[in-house]
Amino acid sequence: MMKAVTRSGDGGPEVLQIDEVPAPHPTETQLLVDVRATALNRVDLIQRRGGYPVPLGESEILGLEIAGTVTEMGTDVTGFEKGDPVFGLVGGGGYAEKAVIDYRMAMVIPDEWSFEHAAAIPEVFFTANENIFTLARLAAGETILIHAGGSGVGTAGIQIARRAGARVFVTAGTTDKIDRCVALGAIAGINYKQADFVTEIERLTDGNGVDVVLDFIGAPYLARNLQILKTRGRLSQVGLMGGSTTEIDLGVVMRKRLQIIGSVMRPQSLEEKIAITQRFVERWLPELKAGKLQPVIDTVFPLAQAREAHTYMEDNRNFGKIILTV
Ligand SMILES: NC(=O)c1ccc[n+]([C@@H]2O[C@H](COP(=O)([O-])OP(=O)(O)OC[C@H]3O[C@@H](n4cnc5c(N)ncnc54)[C@H](OP(=O)(O)O)[C@@H]3O)[C@@H](O)[C@H]2O)c1
Repeated sequence: MMKAVTRSGDGGPEVLQIDEVPAPHPTETQLLVDVRATALNRVDLIQRRGGYPVPLGESEILGLEIAGTVTEMGTDVTGFEKGDPVFGLVGGGGYAEKAVIDYRMAMVIPDEWSFEHAAAIPEVFFTANENIFTLARLAAGETILIHAGGSGVGTAGIQIARRAGARVFVTAGTTDKIDRCVALGAIAGINYKQADFVTEIERLTDGNGVDVVLDFIGAPYLARNLQILKTRGRLSQVGLMGGSTTEIDLGVVMRKRLQIIGSVMRPQSLEEKIAITQRFVERWLPELKAGKLQPVIDTVFPLAQAREAHTYMEDNRNFGKIILTV
């Protein structure tokens, strides 16, 4: 048995509670990990409210990333030992004392890192890398607008886009978040509560627009995102915090030869997620190890305060990641 955060039903943070539940057993290719830290992701709030069906075969327990130590290994696992400190992306089950992870998705935690530091990385760096580079093909010298620059994904995206030689603009809802995005490498930020981002992007780019938009807002931003894209621009749709249904003029997509690309990481196959992990390991893990990139940690809560942590995220108070220590 183990302690884990469970849900008494669908609803607000008050449905979260600590419970004794059966511990998971590793399959042939999985590691059993004593979880020391996990992190919140926006989708946890949606799952808590009952709005996200758990992919088949995944844990019902919240939590998409873990950092901890290996305590058991499946018979086909190679390259790991009991006691190894590891971190990585999981399909669920992170808000618990124990979780399983396929060994091909587990990464060894460098000596200098804390478990909290490691737990802040997988979901947001994988998401940013896949959507900005693999799918939207941002290149050096291009420009990108990252909406919700202060989100976990935004803070990772700003850093890797800048590191790749792109010019980064952001939107955020407070001056403080914009200042912190600029400190991370953005050229300028737009407070979307005070200004229209189309007008501001046109001003900041001398009317040229941007090559790529990374968007988490969805319906209310779609037409405006297309408006600020250059010819052959790419819109990477990764979240729908403002809604999913709207109407647009498809003429603009054709005239400017735009591409609208959508993706969700969680329901992808194990093979696809192993490839996503690998691309991150090759391109960005060395930069993180060298300290050239940093996960941005806003607050650390103990697992028992998962309710408070969810309320904090729901109030949009975080800049970067919220960690739960186990
Ligand atoms: N597709 C995928 O595979 C994938 C994977 C991971 C995350 N995501 C998505 O990426 C987004 C960010 O996730 P996260 O965990 O990094 O989020 P987060 O840390 O909770 O940050 C979200 C931020 O977005 C802003 N925001 C919220 N509602 C908004 C609205 N209606 N309009 C404009 N801004 C709004 C808030 O900042 P302000 O103060 O600036 O308003 C909030 O702090 C989410 O939509 C999530 O679902 C997608």
